[in-house]
Amino acid sequence: MRSHGAGTLRSAHAGDEVSLAGWIDTRRDHGGVVFLDLRDRSGIVQVVADPSVEATAEAHRLRPEWVVRITGTVVERPEGMVNDDLDTGTVEVKATGIEVLSAADTLPFPIADDVEVSEDLRLRHRYVDLRRPRMARNLAVRSQVIRVIRDVMHRHGFLDVETPTLTRPTPEGARDFLVPSRLMPGHTYALPQSPQLFKQLLMVAGVERYYQIAQCWRDEDLRADRQPQFTQLDLELSFGDEEDVFALMEEMFAELWQEVLGEELVTPFPRMTFHEAMRRFGTDKPDLRFAMELADLDEVFATTEVGVFKGVLADDGVVVALAVPDGGELTRREFDAWTDWARARGAKGLAWAVVEEDSSLRSPLAKFMSDEEIAGILATTGAGPGDCIFFGAGRERFTRELMGALRVAVAKDRGLVPDGRWEFLWVTDMPMFDAAEDSDDPMAAVADGWVPNHHPFTSPAPEFLDDFEDRPGEAMTRAYDIVLNGVELASGSVRIHDAELQRRVFRFLGISDEEAEDKFGFLLRGFQYGVPPHCGIAPGLDRIVMLMTGEPNIREVIPFPKTQSGACLLTDAPAPFDDATLAELRLKSLPKPAKD
Ligand code: AMO
Ligand code: AMP
Repeated sequence: MRSHGAGTLRSAHAGDEVSLAGWIDTRRDHGGVVFLDLRDRSGIVQVVADPSVEATAEAHRLRPEWVVRITGTVVERPEGMVNDDLDTGTVEVKATGIEVLSAADTLPFPIADDVEVSEDLRLRHRYVDLRRPRMARNLAVRSQVIRVIRDVMHRHGFLDVETPTLTRPTPEGARDFLVPSRLMPGHTYALPQSPQLFKQLLMVAGVERYYQIAQCWRDEDLRADRQPQFTQLDLELSFGDEEDVFALMEEMFAELWQEVLGEELVTPFPRMTFHEAMRRFGTDKPDLRFAMELADLDEVFATTEVGVFKGVLADDGVVVALAVPDGGELTRREFDAWTDWARARGAKGLAWAVVEEDSSLRSPLAKFMSDEEIAGILATTGAGPGDCIFFGAGRERFTRELMGALRVAVAKDRGLVPDGRWEFLWVTDMPMFDAAEDSDDPMAAVADGWVPNHHPFTSPAPEFLDDFEDRPGEAMTRAYDIVLNGVELASGSVRIHDAELQRRVFRFLGISDEEAEDKFGFLLRGFQYGVPPHCGIAPGLDRIVMLMTGEPNIREVIPFPKTQSGACLLTDAPAPFDDATLAELRLKSLPKPAKD
């Protein structure tokens, strides 16, 4: 149907007879002749047509986004008519024939990057949205990323193995999506939250090196970097440890950045323990593009008369400070807004101080602070004249995370996050468990006591193998994350490969031997038949592409994403049940409970 891509024509093609096919991007009627911009995936070329000639008479009728086939001759554009904005700008095609392949209604929005369109409208007409240059580029980058990943995996001897998506629940800390069985009424499949258990069984099966571009499903509250269905590069290897995974991932990310973005990454990536990350940055995913580290003021305020701090410290809490360079410019109203920001996140308040030229503090709390305390604050935070300092006081984990979130929010708000930097980081030595009350895991709400920080298949660190049950708050694992610019890109771990140790972890989490047998018996049985030590990791593909394309959320890099409320506006999924379907599945639908 066509001889060339529209965007591939250059001066070297001058004189060639070509046939092109694509969409009418724009059409300009200049009295006698009609100028058409013809667009296909490769780009745009200008076509000139004379509607008074029968073979090109259709030129008059064409409207934007009609699909056409055009034959013609490539000619150099006359002097002064060269368009530097187009790759094909030195040539145009003199049409000798135009055939309409399909007409188009007026579009719901124009095909351009610089028009304001609501996301709802974009998602409802995603096929139109995906024609916009930015979205077309995102799809292309995604495809390129997958190609490079496959190259690296195959080079290192990984086997691409598919695992089932109608399966048993795989716990990753979210709710499962269930698929009721028609053949076995009263039974359901679960869509996998990840291929975790299958990949471990593939190690038992002797695959040694497995990978998959895997679909995962999690029924959880959505955010900018979370979708209910998403894609992982899932991988697992036998007879190796952390260092094998680290080296492989560093090679892969360096190659991705090199091949797709043409940028050189610095490897190996720095490493930081979980505790250090929490202490210095108040998060397990620190954004290292800017400094602004948190400072501990417990000692500075050990004998303080500042009421809010005294009370909190007496109660085993902490006082954490964040110094903001040039934050002295903030107005009273802005400080109040940050206090409201903290209160909205459950804090009792947020104190602040501005460092004056003479190194005194201007703050509602200044009159309660001693000179030694002020000197201690400046020494510990490193703040100087013109800077401001925020103080948070309260329960340790909560306060650190609050101040860590404040660090990122203030840095973004004040323009302190530099562009064009790629700060990769390994976060290591993760805790084995989180107190359920501290966890933001949706399943923690229904758990007592402790929930796994990663997942229950993660090996404890050697020094906790014997007695993690006695000191769950201290126990560490051999889990690791890759963080990039403050986003968790990947998680993985060295796994438990001993059935008895695995049962002990289940028991500690309140899963009885019977329940473990029922839910995970297939894994535990597998472990009885010769299991190699193994480890793995799973980078989120959507998040990788989001960061590489500079997009603000993963919906922009997923061809057909769901909205924040989990709906697909294109297909109107999820759709209501009808009675016949329910009857066939032997299910009953309960009315929605009334809101109280
Ligand atoms: P984890 O649950 O940490 O680990 O997930 C690994 C990576 O998957 C991505 N991710 C998501 N991306 C988009 N939307 C979501 N809802 C979502 N949830 C997770 C993130 C995350 O880092 N089986 C383990 C991996 C392993 O141990 O090998 C697992 O799934 O980028
Ligand atoms: P209050 O005594 O509640 O009026 O608070 C006095 C000041 O201390 C206000 O600026 C509050 O925002 C701040 N403040 C109160 N509680 C905390 C806290 N837990 N951490 C930091 N600042 C607080």
